[in-house]
Amino acid sequence: SQVQDVHSEMARRAKNMAFVFDIDGVLVHGDRLIPEGQRVLEILNGDNQLGIKIPHIFLTNGSGKPELARTTQLSGILHNPVSTEQFIQSHTPMRALAEYYSTVLVVGGEGYRCRDVAEEYGFKDIVVPNDIIAWDPTIAPYRVFTEEERASSRPRDFSKINIEAILVFSDSRDYATDLQIIMDLLRSQNGRLRTVAADPESQRIPIYFSQGDFLCPTEHPIPRMSQGAFRIGLEAMYKAQTGVDLERVVYGKPELATYKYADEVLASWMDVLHGEERVPENIYMIGDNPASDIVGGNMYGWNTCLVRTGVFQGGENDEENPANFGVFANVLDAVKTACRKQL
Ligand code: G3P
Ligand code: MG
Repeated sequence: SQVQDVHSEMARRAKNMAFVFDIDGVLVHGDRLIPEGQRVLEILNGDNQLGIKIPHIFLTNGSGKPELARTTQLSGILHNPVSTEQFIQSHTPMRALAEYYSTVLVVGGEGYRCRDVAEEYGFKDIVVPNDIIAWDPTIAPYRVFTEEERASSRPRDFSKINIEAILVFSDSRDYATDLQIIMDLLRSQNGRLRTVAADPESQRIPIYFSQGDFLCPTEHPIPRMSQGAFRIGLEAMYKAQTGVDLERVVYGKPELATYKYADEVLASWMDVLHGEERVPENIYMIGDNPASDIVGGNMYGWNTCLVRTGVFQGGENDEENPANFGVFANVLDAVKTACRKQL
């Protein structure tokens, strides 16, 4: 019948669109739910006239805990299931580096959680700054190292070990210590502490950052400095000490590699949902940060929606990186408008 035809045409269109959600400032503020976020996920998970699941994935510059720990926490806050198969955080694509490096320094995050992340990614030999301080506390002269930290660290003689790469996974909790240790390693001969390379470039080990956001919205009224600020500080110090520009790799939004990775995740999530492994044609990125979510989505050819519940506080649209689909009060407005256009 005609009614059935209309329904199947709408179902076809629903499978040909997808949403990519930023998390902080769109769906949650820290641990606090943005209520429209819960409603949006209910709609996309099937509570709509078609009774069909509309594909969506999560693409966040957040970091600091294993994927399953984070998706479990998010499912609780959002009152909707969030699968690790539809979830990308800043360091998720760095999993691929485990194939190339065995002994790595992992920097950032709370306690030893980033060590857990690196272990899950398959890195064989993971060093964190505390392991190095426990071996030689004089490396970080201003650090107060507690007995508890000493007991939970894994010291070794790092003058006999080559660290092959530095991976900054999450925000440093101690800039002074982490910057000192990273500088020591970057200036060493092939990642061996207590050595200094004669040529700062040829023996330098590579450094990777999981994301480049300069600022991050928090409970504080003015956004706080994030990993991008740490990196810029390090670059300036490295240049001042060696006279050479620091080569580095940055992951996360708005880097192209992260969007390519998101496409792969979308295709395989489509397979899980609808048994069709392909990227839907009309993709909507919903974000609150013009300098990461929106500029990246624009460059990648996605429809971009900027919401007013996070970093962006401006007028009609962002002046430098305007959202191409529009600016919305919140995520529900954005999703409803996109669905009205596509379905
Ligand atoms: O800036 C770091 C992080 O908290 C941003 O997360 O979800 O807005 O990309 P998100
Ligand atoms: Mg955000």
